[in-house]
Amino acid sequence: MENKKNIMECETVDLNLQNKTVVIIDQTKLPGRTEMIELKTAQEIWDAIYLLKVRGAPAIGVAAAFGIYILADAIKDETYAGFLAEFQKQKEYLDSARPTAANLSWALKRMEKVVLDNSDKAVSEIKELLKLESIAIKEEDVWVCKTIGEYGLSLVKPGDGILTHCNAGQLATSKYGTATAPIYLGQERGYNFHVYADETRPLLQGARLTSYELHSAGVDVTLICDNMSATVMKNGWVNAVFVGCDRVAANGDTANKIGTSVVATVAKRYNVPVYICAPTSTIDMNTATGADIHIEQRPAEEVTEMWYKERMAPEGVKVFNPAFDVTDHDLIAGIVTEYGIAYAPYTESLAGIFKKKKEAQKK
Ligand code: MRU
Repeated sequence: MENKKNIMECETVDLNLQNKTVVIIDQTKLPGRTEMIELKTAQEIWDAIYLLKVRGAPAIGVAAAFGIYILADAIKDETYAGFLAEFQKQKEYLDSARPTAANLSWALKRMEKVVLDNSDKAVSEIKELLKLESIAIKEEDVWVCKTIGEYGLSLVKPGDGILTHCNAGQLATSKYGTATAPIYLGQERGYNFHVYADETRPLLQGARLTSYELHSAGVDVTLICDNMSATVMKNGWVNAVFVGCDRVAANGDTANKIGTSVVATVAKRYNVPVYICAPTSTIDMNTATGADIHIEQRPAEEVTEMWYKERMAPEGVKVFNPAFDVTDHDLIAGIVTEYGIAYAPYTESLAGIFKKKKEAQKK
């Protein structure tokens, strides 16, 4: 179904309780067409995540939470053991769609906990609790992004130039985005930022999604090719880099869209601080360093022919297409979370962020 609303008014991921479907904007069609699609089966949900119809770590988490609720709700077995077995089968399947974004397994584990913690309840009641949990995951995402935005905004000043890579915007979350949250909050408060959006080869999330949403929101955004970041930084046009992340290791090493570590290396050369905007749901304290992060490899066609009118590489040429790279923690000026900004040494500061989160949750 085509939607004519401004993209900023569309829900990235939603739950249709009447149709029992997950509703997403098909991001592979943007910016040309805003098409809302409904997902019902496990295969449809898995494909939507794998094919990047819904993408960006937090949005993947929300889609998985809604998805597993829809699948759980359709389970016919009313015995707890039968329900749990089928739930876990579906959970494992959805979890296999993309390996790097921590939010996928984080959201699915959180949903599974609802089933495990309520083994004494009737299956119908568990289904109701799953629905509420999936809605809570989405609502929390809005608060998390906004709070990251407030902390991020404290790191920049009116008129600053900000560079971002890939799309860690509203289209990657439920609202505000992570890396774009300081930009949107600044926009509301008259900060007049100048934003540079890397086009982000090979899937062009920067061109198709970030420049689209920022432009639609009235932000002063300039689209650049990935190989232009050194030029804009050398020109003194960039005061800070804000990027999102797919998984942050306990030592601060950060997996994000391929090319982020190139930007961070260039930024170091030109003394531009690089801030990682990271919901705690993306920080994986069980992964010690970046070397332990599983990096997703994608099909060669994304590099050789996708988006081109005709193939742009010789048939049979070898292609290396990792979806993410790891930015070493020493290139990162700060990790902005919803519980404050973590600075080096990250092993201690990130542990402190989780301590703060635990204390806040007790209240
Ligand atoms: O492959 P994608 O488009 O899902 O990659 C997205 C990114 O790398 C984002 O920067 C990251 O998920 C953070 S989104 C707030």
